[in-house]
Amino acid sequence: MEPVLDWEARYLEPSVPWERGGLNPAFLAWRDWLSNHSGTAIVPGCGRSPELVALAGIGWQVTGVDLSPTAVGYQQERLAAAGCQGEVIASNLFEWQPGLPADLVYEQTCLCALNPDDWSAYESQLARWIRPGGTLLVLFLQTKDPDGPPFHCDIDDMRRLFASRRWDWGGAPLRSDHPMGVHELGFRLSRC
Ligand SMILES: C[S@@+](CC[C@H](N)C(=O)[O-])C[C@H]1O[C@@H](n2cnc3c(N)ncnc32)[C@H](O)[C@@H]1O
Repeated sequence: MEPVLDWEARYLEPSVPWERGGLNPAFLAWRDWLSNHSGTAIVPGCGRSPELVALAGIGWQVTGVDLSPTAVGYQQERLAAAGCQGEVIASNLFEWQPGLPADLVYEQTCLCALNPDDWSAYESQLARWIRPGGTLLVLFLQTKDPDGPPFHCDIDDMRRLFASRRWDWGGAPLRSDHPMGVHELGFRLSRC
């Protein structure tokens, strides 16, 4: 489970292409649902994305996980500045487990940043991390490019990866255009 990039080095560059400079439109579309629910939430590969603090700001007890000390430090500062509770852990997500399964995982541009050979192990981690009946909000990046990262998350492949014995797929996807010139398809999955 070796990272496909030196992510820490990327965060030391002046800008990174995956950051959109605001909340993901899918997150905004889910915000009413998120505001009407609460509990524990994990954001794997949280990077510097603002959704971690936004979740904490509407009452979720958040845990971010990321390999990059720069990203972890950034999120810790943002949480503190917002006066929000939460923890951000510097760890390889394949080697980390929560104390208890969470109510929610918010997955945004982490899957597509992992080697596809590791996707099955990642799905198993997510299945372990989420309690039965819990929710996976997931954004599948659509690049149509065979190379990566970011790796294309073909929806038929995703339906096989997040199979119905473990995941109940919700309704139609939400589409978010991405500043990288690609788009994401957002789904709300329930853990069976
Ligand atoms: C493309 S970035 C996306 C960051 C964030 N989700 C966002 O939307 O801005 C991928 C993130 O996953 C993290 N990452 C990659 N492999 C990881 C691993 N095995 N364990 C923990 N974090 C990882 C990287 O450090 C990076 O922050």
